[in-house]
Amino acid sequence: MGKTGKENEGMTNIRLREDGLAVVILDQSLLPGRMEYLEAATPEEMYDAIAGLKVRGAPAIGIFAAYCMAVLARRESVRIAEGARDGGTGGAAELLGVMKKHGDHLRTSRPTAVNLSWAVERVLESAEKAYAAETEKAGVYIIADAMMKEAKAIHEEDIAMCRAISEYGLTLIKDGDGILTHCNAGPLATSRYGTALGPILLGNERGMDFRVFADETRPLLQGARLTAYELQQAGVDVTLICDNMASMVMKNGWVQACFVGCDRVAANGDTANKIGTSAVAILAKHYGIPFYVLGPTSTVDLDCASGEEIPIELRKPGEIREMFYGEPVAPEGVKCYNPAFDVTDSSLITAIVTEKGICRPPFTESLAKVKLEGVCGI
Ligand code: MRU
Repeated sequence: MGKTGKENEGMTNIRLREDGLAVVILDQSLLPGRMEYLEAATPEEMYDAIAGLKVRGAPAIGIFAAYCMAVLARRESVRIAEGARDGGTGGAAELLGVMKKHGDHLRTSRPTAVNLSWAVERVLESAEKAYAAETEKAGVYIIADAMMKEAKAIHEEDIAMCRAISEYGLTLIKDGDGILTHCNAGPLATSRYGTALGPILLGNERGMDFRVFADETRPLLQGARLTAYELQQAGVDVTLICDNMASMVMKNGWVQACFVGCDRVAANGDTANKIGTSAVAILAKHYGIPFYVLGPTSTVDLDCASGEEIPIELRKPGEIREMFYGEPVAPEGVKCYNPAFDVTDSSLITAIVTEKGICRPPFTESLAKVKLEGVCGI
């Protein structure tokens, strides 16, 4: 993966390289200490960027995957067109076949966030439509252009989606409230405002004051590294706490609402999000604090009937044993269990805030309505 070094472009987390033949990302695994950008141009570099959490957060993974597919289509279309000039038989059908393989490979880089498969699927469908729309078989370049257009649309839509979620979420809190969040669902994990951090950042812009408690979020510390950083940069009052301190902070009466993001929401409302989220929801229920999930309808997966069907990513033991310590703190070789996500039972969720409105229980009905009809009974 080629390093392009520091770039003076603020917090742009994902963009296309000027020639359209690589995707440039802010390497989130190094933040907040180092701000370095990486270029992903090959299928391996793209896979590693997702698996290694250099780009992370469900919507951001989707945007990145969409651009990756478009970039690979451009590269493959040049190869195929050159082969055809040399007498090869390749053409649009070959491009579609190759791109399906790239998509299948990319999809396996992380299993839990449905936005990854969703974005890959959307870009592939745009290729098939371009292919079918031509009376003559579409040229490879027409298909590659259609895929790039779709990737850009996914990115644009995400910006609008974050804004809408932020507006809806802001109606659930008031000036002076304390909000607890887990992991990172801010601009780095999406584009612009973010989902769970969106209402806080939007309210802050409008002169409202919130006190945010950010769980550090073991083992990869997205809360300590990314949420604390984003909120501090925006001038929001943020207090970093260890994951096991949430109960005390709630008991002290400092939290009026919990806002978390989501990686996959099942048809019944069961929600997969960063490991530890379900514990926050259980605590919130105990203390009578509303627990809100904020995420786009692209994260709602009606094909998963309940959380039981959501695949949970298991990550390497080294992330627990040694990754963020000067030297390993646990005994060498100790057995570790390192799931990246857990599922919060829908009974613990007060509401799910989407870009189309706020879904309330019974979620089986409200989620089907928002997903299939695009409307929400608020
Ligand atoms: O492992 P990560 O850092 O990708 O996990 C991210 C989360 O759990 C986020 O809360 C979720 O993806 C929503 S981001 C808007």
